[in-house]
Amino acid sequence: MLKSSIQALVALLAVTSHSISVSDAELSFNTLQQWYNQSIGLWIPSTAPGWWNSANCLTVVADLAAIDSNVKTKAESIFPRTFEKAQAYNLQQQKGVGTNWLPWSYYGNFWPWFPLHHPKPPFHHPNGFLNSYYDDEGWWALAWIAVYDVTGDTRYLHTAESIFQDMAASYDTTPCGGIWWDKNHTYVNAIANELFLSVGAHLANRAPSKSSYYLRWAQREWAWFQSSGMINAQNTINDGLNLTTCRNNNGTVWSYNQGVVLGALAELNSADSEENSVAYLSTAKRIADAAIANLTDANGVLHDPCEPDCGADGSQFKGVFARNLQRLQQASPEVRYKTFLQDNANAIWADDRGVGNELSVVWSGPFVSPANASTQSSAMDAIVGALTVS
Ligand SMILES: *[C@@H]1O[C@H](CO)[C@@H](O)[C@H](O)[C@H]1NC(C)=O
Ligand SMILES: *[C@@H]1O[C@H](CO)[C@@H](O)[C@H](O)[C@H]1NC(C)=O
Ligand SMILES: *[C@@H]1O[C@H](CO)[C@@H](O)[C@H](O)[C@H]1NC(C)=O
Ligand SMILES: *[C@@H]1O[C@H](CO)[C@@H](O)[C@H](O)[C@H]1NC(C)=O
Ligand SMILES: *[C@@H]1O[C@H](CO)[C@@H](O)[C@H](O)[C@H]1NC(C)=O
Ligand SMILES: *[C@@H]1O[C@H](CO)[C@@H](O)[C@H](O)[C@H]1NC(C)=O
Repeated sequence: MLKSSIQALVALLAVTSHSISVSDAELSFNTLQQWYNQSIGLWIPSTAPGWWNSANCLTVVADLAAIDSNVKTKAESIFPRTFEKAQAYNLQQQKGVGTNWLPWSYYGNFWPWFPLHHPKPPFHHPNGFLNSYYDDEGWWALAWIAVYDVTGDTRYLHTAESIFQDMAASYDTTPCGGIWWDKNHTYVNAIANELFLSVGAHLANRAPSKSSYYLRWAQREWAWFQSSGMINAQNTINDGLNLTTCRNNNGTVWSYNQGVVLGALAELNSADSEENSVAYLSTAKRIADAAIANLTDANGVLHDPCEPDCGADGSQFKGVFARNLQRLQQASPEVRYKTFLQDNANAIWADDRGVGNELSVVWSGPFVSPANASTQSSAMDAIVGALTVS
């Protein structure tokens, strides 16, 4: 009796619960494109152009194009447009680190959104995808690598290589080693260093004539990062270092800092010798498991401590983890990661979706209105991640 009612219940759940599909991903892509500004090639969340957020929008579009030919057809006009327009758009931007280590960004050309009490930074001339922040540069490098992967067009790869050079010039100029977060030299943190590691490791697998050059850089950065103290005893990664002591600042454990490193180690695993690979993957899995244990809500869904008020930067974080867990899963599959990605994607579709397939910041819901290009692209990372590993 009990057994048959359990079977009935299981059958009912199978009928009523929706599994994420490619057509769902296409709907969410169409919604994302409502925020795409053709004249500047950037995705605009509400009123300000998200610079690094747009690099992440571009990445998820490329990742979806890699598994869906309908989106690929549309993406083929987005890639060159963003390539041409975004780097010509003169972005007056200032970033900082706020309460609880939550970063913030202000964009000067969207006055009055630049707060009065903040001095406007000097209007800098467009310099390709370089700006005053090494993490922003790393996001664009990874985006162009994702675009290269799906198009095979080497101008995108060369752009990533030249961004890498700018980041590498910052290496070891800090009192603590590694690279700076910013060109004003105010902070050494996890995100900029993980991105530098990841770009180097990606290039080692993609630039045949310089693969050993990029591999050496990635090995050097990883050796430093591992001994920097930012990975704590619980295998989670704090925000950064205290510049006076060069020790872990115990800053908030953000999901994106648990994510970028996973994709980086998956790439290092392919680039490096077999004997080193075991350690890359086991370290990545320790970090992934600790993040899943520590950064999930009561529903087992990924959750950052800032939710639901994560601002323009924090609303991007979780997708970065999902995307990079997908990369780790492709390098070395585990049933638990596949299930995690699918559960997150299904939760988003069931509980975090508003009118017009807008996806918002709290993945297990309820929907926080309004959504924007940042929350949309971040949630899409989980959807694309789940579809890619299924
Ligand atoms: C696109 O961005 C430009 C530059 O900020 C702005 O002038 C224009 O109004 C935007 N277009 C749309 C459709 O929002
Ligand atoms: C860099 O620091 C200078 C001096 O403190 C400041 O005027 C400028 O706005 C800062 N630039 C950025 C992009 O934060
Ligand atoms: C860095 O550490 C020093 C010495 O412990 C401390 O006085 C300072 O407040 C710390 N700085 C930050 C930004 O936490
Ligand atoms: C960070 O946390 C560790 C472990 O709880 C503690 O030993 C250390 O003193 C903390 N450091 C700072 C700068 O708060
Ligand atoms: C993270 O999860 C691990 C494993 O469940 C646990 O031992 C550790 O205390 C957690 N750390 C934090 C900072 O929550
Ligand atoms: C996008 O939405 C999130 C979640 O509501 C919000 O925290 C963030 O500030 C929004 N971004 C912008 C640029 O308005």
